[in-house]
Amino acid sequence: MEALSPIENGSAALAELAHLLKSAGDELRLEILRALAQDSFGVLEISHIFDVRQNSISHHLKVLATAGLVNTRREGNSIFYRRNNSHLGDQALLRAALFQQIDNLELSPDVQTRIEDIHHKRADISQSFFKEHGSSLREKQDLIAEFKVYGGQVESFLASCELPQWHTALEIGPGDGEFLPLLAARFAQVTALDNSATMLQRTQQLCEQQQLGNIEFIHHDTQFCREQSQAFDCVVINMVLHHTPSPRQIFSDVSNALKPGGVLVVCELCQHNQDWTQQACGDVWLGFEPRELVEWAQATNMQHGQNTFFALRNGFQIQIHEFVKVPSQVTER
Ligand SMILES: C[S@@+](CC[C@H](N)C(=O)[O-])C[C@H]1O[C@@H](n2cnc3c(N)ncnc32)[C@H](O)[C@@H]1O
Repeated sequence: MEALSPIENGSAALAELAHLLKSAGDELRLEILRALAQDSFGVLEISHIFDVRQNSISHHLKVLATAGLVNTRREGNSIFYRRNNSHLGDQALLRAALFQQIDNLELSPDVQTRIEDIHHKRADISQSFFKEHGSSLREKQDLIAEFKVYGGQVESFLASCELPQWHTALEIGPGDGEFLPLLAARFAQVTALDNSATMLQRTQQLCEQQQLGNIEFIHHDTQFCREQSQAFDCVVINMVLHHTPSPRQIFSDVSNALKPGGVLVVCELCQHNQDWTQQACGDVWLGFEPRELVEWAQATNMQHGQNTFFALRNGFQIQIHEFVKVPSQVTER
């Protein structure tokens, strides 16, 4: 095939540009892009958020997807939409400027309330799962990854992080509590935060058995972090993000609670397509792409540090990342 001449190239680029601008040129579609800044939603959820019929929303989403403004991703039986924040591609600059402009707009209170409704529903499903299966969680978790497989890896990863201080640590979602003795040995004071009373009770029992005296137990989700400005040197999140209603929100909450230079360690499943985990293990999300975690961290004032990946025999892959809270004087520049 012959290469395109500069003029042909130019007119193809113009056509693409016009297509993108036309696709974005609609108030509802701009609002959808605004709502997708923080989160990904399915068609039914977006239809609920904007109180617009599902087939109309499907049409708008198709237009946005064809123009490369949103990406799709299958989570079990549902397709989820998220904004295409990629820095790659001919129109990346225009997309970024458009998104920046849109993000200055406030979502209407009604839309915000309906987004919160969806988050509550997702959280309820996850919490009911842990309430019902708390005592057998370990067996269910082991179907995906045994703690002994990743726990030691997270421990040595943490040991290699350069923390300014090793005073205070927070573990979000300690589950059965197996990582807490390791944190209690390294930090002067440890906080264990879990939104499931059943799981927190199990955590507490294990810590009592091991006579760990430097752990405080908090029954809450990460909203707790919004009241804990710069309280922690380190936050650890092991295999929790895929259970949370809005993983991006977790990053934002954690960032508030970290001291400048403090470190967030995340151990998580890589994106997979084994949708049985939703039924069997209460998973909301089928893992994550590394770039999603990095994007959420960077958007909330944390820099990507070291990372490591390893594969399990059952096809799952695990990723561990370090994110360092940027000292505020650097961001003010
Ligand atoms: C799969 S278990 C992981 C437990 C442990 N970190 C491990 O690796 O074995 C997930 C835990 O996170 C908790 N959890 C889920 N969503 C949470 C949230 N939004 N805030 C706090 N804890 C949460 C659950 O109750 C559960 O204890």
